Amino acid sequence: MVGLGVMGRNVLLNMLDHGYSTAGLDTDAAKVSALMDEAKSQGAGATTDPNAFVAMLRKPRAIMLLVPAGAPVDAVVRELLPLLSQGDLLIDAGNSHFTDTDRRYKALAGKNIHFFGMGVSGGESGARHGPSIMPGGPKEAYERVRPILEAIAAKVGGEPCVTYLGPGSAGHYVKMVHNGIEYALMQLISETYDLMKRGIGLSNEELGDVYDGWNNGELSSFLIEITSQIFRHMDDKTGKPLVDLILDVARQKGTGQWTSQDALELKVPTPTIDIAVTMRDLSGRETARQTASKVLQGAQPKGDLPPDAVKKIQNAFHAAMIISYAQGMAQLQAASKAYSYNLNMDAIARIWRGGCIIRAALLEDIRTAHKSNPELPDLMVNPQLASRLNALQADLRTIVRVGVENGIPVAGHMACLTYFDAYRSEWMPFNLIQAQRDFFGAHTYERIDQKGVFHTQWSDT
Ligand code: 6PG
Repeated sequence: MVGLGVMGRNVLLNMLDHGYSTAGLDTDAAKVSALMDEAKSQGAGATTDPNAFVAMLRKPRAIMLLVPAGAPVDAVVRELLPLLSQGDLLIDAGNSHFTDTDRRYKALAGKNIHFFGMGVSGGESGARHGPSIMPGGPKEAYERVRPILEAIAAKVGGEPCVTYLGPGSAGHYVKMVHNGIEYALMQLISETYDLMKRGIGLSNEELGDVYDGWNNGELSSFLIEITSQIFRHMDDKTGKPLVDLILDVARQKGTGQWTSQDALELKVPTPTIDIAVTMRDLSGRETARQTASKVLQGAQPKGDLPPDAVKKIQNAFHAAMIISYAQGMAQLQAASKAYSYNLNMDAIARIWRGGCIIRAALLEDIRTAHKSNPELPDLMVNPQLASRLNALQADLRTIVRVGVENGIPVAGHMACLTYFDAYRSEWMPFNLIQAQRDFFGAHTYERIDQKGVFHTQWSDT
C-alpha cells in the first residue's frame, strides 16, 4: 500500500484482518511508525524507503496506491517505475479522473506493467470494515488480486461488493458516476431538510425521528441513516446541536462536477447531478447571498405547512431518488458504449448495495430491473419502477409547487420532475427550435412527413 493516510491505512488493516501479509510505504515517518505500532504483530511491514518497500513484495508484485488524485499519482508511479518488473500490477485506488487513468494505463501497458483504476467507496469506516470496490483494467491481472478484493469488500447476502467492471478506466468511471449520484442524493436530502425545517418548522430532534423512520422503510439507505444521526448529534464544545453550528456552504473535490462534464460530452441528460454541483457552487457565494437576502424579495417560508406534508416530502424524495439513479445509470450505459467498457449494469447495482456511500434498499430493485432487461433504456421505464413513479409523481409535483410558493429552493426535486415530465413527453417543442435555427442560420430542419433535411427562406429580409 502506497499512502498510509486514513484510507490507505484502513484498507491495509482490513487486508491484515483477512490474513494477507502487507507492506506500506509513505513519505511521512509518523504514519509509518503509527502503522507499525498497531500492526507489526500481525505481520505488516512499513517504510519510508521505496527500495525497501519494493524489496518486501513477492513477485509479480501487486501495489495499491491510495494517494490524492492528480499529480501525486503520477509522482508515485514515476518513483516506483524503475523499481518494478514486467508483470507487476499497480492499482490506483483513489478518485482519479478517468482520462488520467486511461493515460497511465496506456503508458504502463507499453512497459508491461499492469495498471488498474479502482474506485473505493465507503469512507474511513468502509475502508476499514468493508468498502464497495470498483476495479477496471486488464482482466488477467484482476484474477491475481480478486481473492484479496473479495475478502476485504463489504458483503450483502454473502456476495462481495466487488466485481471486475471492464477495461481501461471503467472502474474509475463507475466510481465517478457513483459520486455524481451521491451529490444528487445529498442535494435532495438537503432540500427535504429545508422543507421540513423552514417549511413545517420541525426541530432537529423531530427531523432525526423523521429520517430514522424513512430509514426503516423503502428509503432505507446509508445517507438517510447518517442524516438521522447528524440531527441528534450535540456539539462537545457548546452542547448545542452541531448541525446548527456548521457553515451553510458545501465544497467539493470535483467528482460530481466531472460526472456532469462528461455527461455533457456524451449528451446524456443528468439534470439532477448538474444542479447538485451548481447548488454547491451557489452555497459557496455566502457573502453575495447575505447581501442579496436584503435586496431581493419574494415568498418566504413561514413554517406553517401542515405536518402531513412530511409524508408528501417523503414520497417526493422517493420519486426523486429513483429518477436520480436513473440518470446515473443512463450515463453509465452511454459511457459503456462510447468508451467500450462493456459494463454490466446489474453487476454495478449489485456491488453498490453494500459498503458504498449510495448504498440503498432501492439498489436491489435497480439490480432486478437491469437484470431482467440488460438493454433497459432508462430505469424509469422498468415496469415496477414506472408504477412506483406513477404513484409518487403527484407528491413530487406538490412538493415542487410548495417549494416554489414558499421561496424554498428545491432545485434537485425540480430537476427530477422536469426530467420525468420531459422523458414521458411524446411531443416536445423542439420543432420550434429547429425552425429558429434554420431561420437565423440556415441550419436546416427535419420534417415529420418527409425524410431528408430542408431549408426555408423564412423572410424576405
Ligand atoms: C466515497 C466518497 C468519497 C469522498 C467523496 C467526497 O464514495 O467514499 O464519495 O470518494 O468522500 O469524493 O466528495 P466531495 O469532496 O467532492 O464531496
